[in-house]
Amino acid sequence: MPRLSRAAQVARDQVFAELKNDHKRVRKAYKDFEKLDKSDTEACSRIVEQVLLELSVHATLEEELLYPPARAALTETDLVDEAEVEHESAHQLIDQLRTMSPDDDKYAARFTVLCEYVLHHVKEEEGEFFPALENLRLEWERIAADMSARRQELLADESDDAPAIIGEPELIADDDRLPANGVADSGAANPRKI
Ligand SMILES: [Fe+2]
Ligand SMILES: [Fe+2]
Repeated sequence: MPRLSRAAQVARDQVFAELKNDHKRVRKAYKDFEKLDKSDTEACSRIVEQVLLELSVHATLEEELLYPPARAALTETDLVDEAEVEHESAHQLIDQLRTMSPDDDKYAARFTVLCEYVLHHVKEEEGEFFPALENLRLEWERIAADMSARRQELLADESDDAPAIIGEPELIADDDRLPANGVADSGAANPRKI
């Protein structure tokens, strides 16, 4: 199989770097959450809301732009099957948390389960799934470009839903890639809600 072009390698590395950076942000947010006094429901819910937003965007990017071409290119699709099933379970927990009040008894517990679950998924993704894709001749340049554009679109849509959440960048201070003031095109069309 011919090697990837230099441009494709750069684009592939950008895709993985962005996704891994998202993973890192969840890890960091969960660590911060663990240190919180769980009776401080306001502080807890700030982290929870931010993570739910970021996870929803991240999961959608993978589901729409990475998993389908990976499925088409891999000879064994077990890793994609597992990843998609794990995303389904994560979406269920995200949906449940979104309907809960921070004062609910099991709010912190449900968030903890979500994070533990997601971090397990992330470990497999970074340890097995991404390496399995590394040398595949996917359309990496297109995936990278689509991922950046789609991220902005999804963030704009999420910020329409939850304007108070965007604007608290101090929650995850080691990376300011998430815009503090939403994104420019808040009216972007987004046919898919998660
Ligand atoms: Fe994933
Ligand atoms: Fe991921």
